[in-house]
Amino acid sequence: MKVEALKYRTVFNSGGHAALEVGIMSDKRWYFSQIPSGQSAGEREAKVFSVPEVQSVWKKINLQAEGRKFKNLAEFDDFILRLDGTERKTVLGGNVLLGLSLAFARALADGKRMELWEILREEFFGKVRGVEYPVIYANLIEGGVHAQNNLDIQEYLVLAQTGPNPIATVGELIAFYETLGEYLANKAKLRPLPIGSESGYNLIWRNNEEPITALAKIIKATNLPFRIGLDVAASEFYEDGAYRFEGRKKTTLNLRNIYAKYFKKYPGLISLEDPFGENNRDGFREIMKNSEGRLVVGDDLTTTNPKEIERCAREKLISGVIIKANQIGTLSETCLAIETAHRNGLKCIISHRGQETEDVFLMHIARAANAYGVKIGAPGRERILKYNELLRLYP
Ligand code: PGA
Ligand code: ZN
Repeated sequence: MKVEALKYRTVFNSGGHAALEVGIMSDKRWYFSQIPSGQSAGEREAKVFSVPEVQSVWKKINLQAEGRKFKNLAEFDDFILRLDGTERKTVLGGNVLLGLSLAFARALADGKRMELWEILREEFFGKVRGVEYPVIYANLIEGGVHAQNNLDIQEYLVLAQTGPNPIATVGELIAFYETLGEYLANKAKLRPLPIGSESGYNLIWRNNEEPITALAKIIKATNLPFRIGLDVAASEFYEDGAYRFEGRKKTTLNLRNIYAKYFKKYPGLISLEDPFGENNRDGFREIMKNSEGRLVVGDDLTTTNPKEIERCAREKLISGVIIKANQIGTLSETCLAIETAHRNGLKCIISHRGQETEDVFLMHIARAANAYGVKIGAPGRERILKYNELLRLYP
């Protein structure tokens, strides 16, 4: 496929910050991508370029890529990765590389009259067949840096297993979100309820446990087959060798005991993401030994890096992993990260970012790879587009 022309412009993400849109022209048609960004980004993530930084490297990219032909996505990604030449994408920017990679993939897919997910499956997931319906990870109560409240834990998620009739599950999830909202509005005597970055409710709570109790209560009351997950994003409250939790300093062991208590009290709590800081490997190792079948999920720990995922799997630090394409930079590397995770027996949860755009590419990655889960926020605002794409791709 020939790259006939390239362009970029600034759009705005859900946080109102500048986000990158990249366009690639092939066969006289333009194909676009929009790149989300993290709010609680891990320190090993690919570098995000600001608008002036993108401007300063665009000419070089244009000169090199315009008019060139590539036989597939891997070849194109390889070419842009070589132009950058760094592990953390500090020369061209991770958002720039992903923007290019995704726009190219869309052009390639259209040229072959295929969907984006079909191109990804053909090129990177040769052995994957059929369809596996994903678990939706819906962040319904927000804290940490995604909200303006007193919760240290960043996300309280409802986990909904979809099946051959995903519209039913999505409908139940939307009803659940509304029922929870009604309950919380009455409890807090507050209308309308404030919401956080991912459209989850953003309220003041007695402690970090209370939202789990609320979710468990509504699950029981509605009798829906939903489970609970937490994304602690513990790197965000780790400072000077300790965790600052509920206004007090906590050691790794203190935190582990808190999680043990949650596990005991809430059997429906089956997924725990980033329970410790991204450099606290011992914390992960210990909790994995005592997780009793629950998923221990790496996000800031692994940053969608195939080498890190392999290492964490070998060291038995995690049983699941968050996949965010912009943490690593290109779709090829993202697919390799998933393949590495699957080869090591880890479950993959393909995830949005705190600051999303209207692009729905994450759902195509999930469909291509038959991923275990998709993390797409509460069913509101720009996040609902991901739900609708799920319904389109998983009929
Ligand atoms: P982020 O976290 O702010 O780093 O994108 C989002 C998430 O994990 O849901
Ligand atoms: Zn996370």
